[in-house]
Amino acid sequence: MDQILILDFGSQYTQLIARRLRSLRVYCEILPFSAPVEDILSRSPRGIILSGGPSSVYDKAAPKPDPAVFSLGIPVLGVCYGMQLLAREFGGEVSKALQREYGLGKVKLHKGSKLLAGLPGALNVWMSHGDEVKKVPAGFKVTAAASGAGISAMENTELGLYALQFHPEVHHTERGVKMLENFARGICGYKERWTPASFLSESVAEIKKQAGGKTVICGLSGGVDSSVAAVLAHKAIGDKLRCIFVDTGLLRHGDRQRMKEVFHDKFGYSVRIVDASALFLGRLKGVTSPERKRKIIGHTFIEVFDREAKKIKDASFLLQGTLYPDVIESVSVKGPSAVIKSHHNVGGLPAKMKMGLIEPLRFFFKDEVRELGRSLRIPEPVLMQHPFPGPGLAIRVLGEVTPARLAILREADRLMREEIQAAGWYPKIWQAFCVLLPVRSVGVMGDERSYEFTIALRCVSSVDGMTADWSKLPHDLMHKISSRIVSEVRGVNRVVYDITSKPPATIEWE
Ligand code: XMP
Repeated sequence: MDQILILDFGSQYTQLIARRLRSLRVYCEILPFSAPVEDILSRSPRGIILSGGPSSVYDKAAPKPDPAVFSLGIPVLGVCYGMQLLAREFGGEVSKALQREYGLGKVKLHKGSKLLAGLPGALNVWMSHGDEVKKVPAGFKVTAAASGAGISAMENTELGLYALQFHPEVHHTERGVKMLENFARGICGYKERWTPASFLSESVAEIKKQAGGKTVICGLSGGVDSSVAAVLAHKAIGDKLRCIFVDTGLLRHGDRQRMKEVFHDKFGYSVRIVDASALFLGRLKGVTSPERKRKIIGHTFIEVFDREAKKIKDASFLLQGTLYPDVIESVSVKGPSAVIKSHHNVGGLPAKMKMGLIEPLRFFFKDEVRELGRSLRIPEPVLMQHPFPGPGLAIRVLGEVTPARLAILREADRLMREEIQAAGWYPKIWQAFCVLLPVRSVGVMGDERSYEFTIALRCVSSVDGMTADWSKLPHDLMHKISSRIVSEVRGVNRVVYDITSKPPATIEWE
């Protein structure tokens, strides 16, 4: 498959380059900066992008690509640190800045650039760099300059080398996507219109080959990733796919039912539903520490899953819905982009079970998984659902988790989601849920004084869950949710709205 290759020098924006290219329907992959040239060539890339990164080219341990990268005859685009690398490599002058330039800047574009073709004469761009190029190497020409006369872009069309001091992948850079398009389609000649579905037949064939006639187990949670992975796998191996759904007793209203209706009743898959709620709730009794809760749930999940899997004869592989961002994180340099996300995986499952792993989504971003799911005719409510954490409602009942508290939270959460759906807000937000605060406050209900729990509403917008902003829901919608909760859910007399961003808060409360 035709592709553009991105070498990662540790910028927090590297993944964004990939996402922008893919949204242009250009397939691309990210490799660590140190990838040997043989690995690069084995992918036959049409072009190579050197990402930004936190280092200075003057650092002793400054990351450098395999030097052969520059003489393969494949066009190269250096972004930020990538530009400084190019400048140093070809004999230009890079100066060490005393202070990092960060934020919006204005650049003037010169005429005749291939990379900046079709763009206006001046643009706002996003800068985030320390060093800067003072003199371009011989044979290069300056194609954009900052208002303060700094060199913002350069190119050598004969050698196929292009560079930008600013970040075209960042949303704040005007027409940045056009620059990436110019590179991929204009300069590198990438012609195809890639879509996630173009991987469909390839993925199915690969799963079939990997499974080799053996049984594959899938921990089906009913979430987007495991659902799409299961449908792909079922296409490949049919009834050799055996799904296990663990009801932890910590699920939301309707989760188990919807999973059963879609996968068992409608698709006819083999789904073993294991009701382990008594076990989970028993072990959580009296536990209040968020970390302890997570650990107990994680271990118990593995224990239950392992026990059930052993009942399935000839089970040799585990299907996992691992996505591309996790794959990149595990192979790339740990720059400032390094993310701590261990709690997001079904930690330890594959190691404990000593099974082969099948990860058909490992080259996809979340939005692409949804697109793939659509082409597989998975129902929209499954594809468009908000993320739901593995530990479930246990981390939304603050403090001790009891069946009574879970019941209150589940009902409040159901009402909230119902109202948000009805108002058309559900697809506009990343996550919307309720949290049960274990504090009681005084209220009046009719003529009587009440002394009940508080529900906090948490609604956030985000692109990847790493940062988030609280959603500005219309007041009348908040009013409706609040009045329904206090009048319909017994045990709640107060509703509050969480107006904290992430950071400094997290999305979940525990
Ligand atoms: P936080 O609370 O860290 O959450 O801001 C970021 C995103 O991750 C989800 N999350 C989890 N997902 N297992 C998961 O599968 C977990 O233990 C877990 N903890 C948080 C959270 O819902 C949000 O989307």
